[in-house]
Amino acid sequence: MIGIFDSGVGGMTVARAIETLCPGYPLVYLGDIARSPYGSKSPAMIAEYSRRNTEFLLTQGAKLIVIACNSAASTASSMLRQEYSPPIVDVIAPAVQKAAKVSRSGKIGIIGTRATINSGLYEQRIHEAFPKAQVHSQACPLLVPLVEEGWLARRETKMITKEYIRPLRNKQIDTLILGCTHYPLLKKIIAPRIGRKVEIIDSSVEVALHLRGLLAVNKDLHQELFAPEVTNRFFVSDLPAPVHSLANTIFGRTVHLEKTDV
Ligand code: DGL
Repeated sequence: MIGIFDSGVGGMTVARAIETLCPGYPLVYLGDIARSPYGSKSPAMIAEYSRRNTEFLLTQGAKLIVIACNSAASTASSMLRQEYSPPIVDVIAPAVQKAAKVSRSGKIGIIGTRATINSGLYEQRIHEAFPKAQVHSQACPLLVPLVEEGWLARRETKMITKEYIRPLRNKQIDTLILGCTHYPLLKKIIAPRIGRKVEIIDSSVEVALHLRGLLAVNKDLHQELFAPEVTNRFFVSDLPAPVHSLANTIFGRTVHLEKTDV
């Protein structure tokens, strides 16, 4: 199975993209809702939670781990790769590769949680891939709670998004990375505010495309993971009521969520 973890339900945007682009590879998902949000926690705390999530997924039979959470990927991906032997894929590298490929001016914007932006990992990776790039980062801490409230098209969400996006618009970026699991759900609000000509990179889609490429060239991995008869499972460490509707919105269908202790 492909194990995917996130701080909550937002990472289901990644699970959904993987389900669509990599059919036949069963998923086991863990949303650590009990400890969410990660984006405002310290790197040490996020690392500890990421370790527990990885161990849970491995005990469920995962043979490859996808770190869907940008905050966890930014702070804990190197540590997890050192400590665990199965392949670990994170949302950052595929989004960075795409940005480096499509940006013509080299002016690249990133939006994410405070943990993601403060880690500086996106900036570092972009500079490695595209040394002349000018990277502009913006933490948007209010966007995750707005999405979790289901305020996807509210006037308040549009105003707050505009405020966060303005500095990036002023820098005339030509590419914007959505560096948070929740932001694909705000794409319709973000696109007109950053400017229609700006290429928006959805890290959930990029990680799914990356995985599809990996499975196409790595026959052993394909054989280990391909099992079309196995059903996907979605675990959460807490099950507050609004979670169901957010999960159903992301998948466009009713998703069965199983409560577990991590
Ligand atoms: N999943 C987190 C991320 O992508 C957003 C929610 C949180 O802060 O826990 O950064």
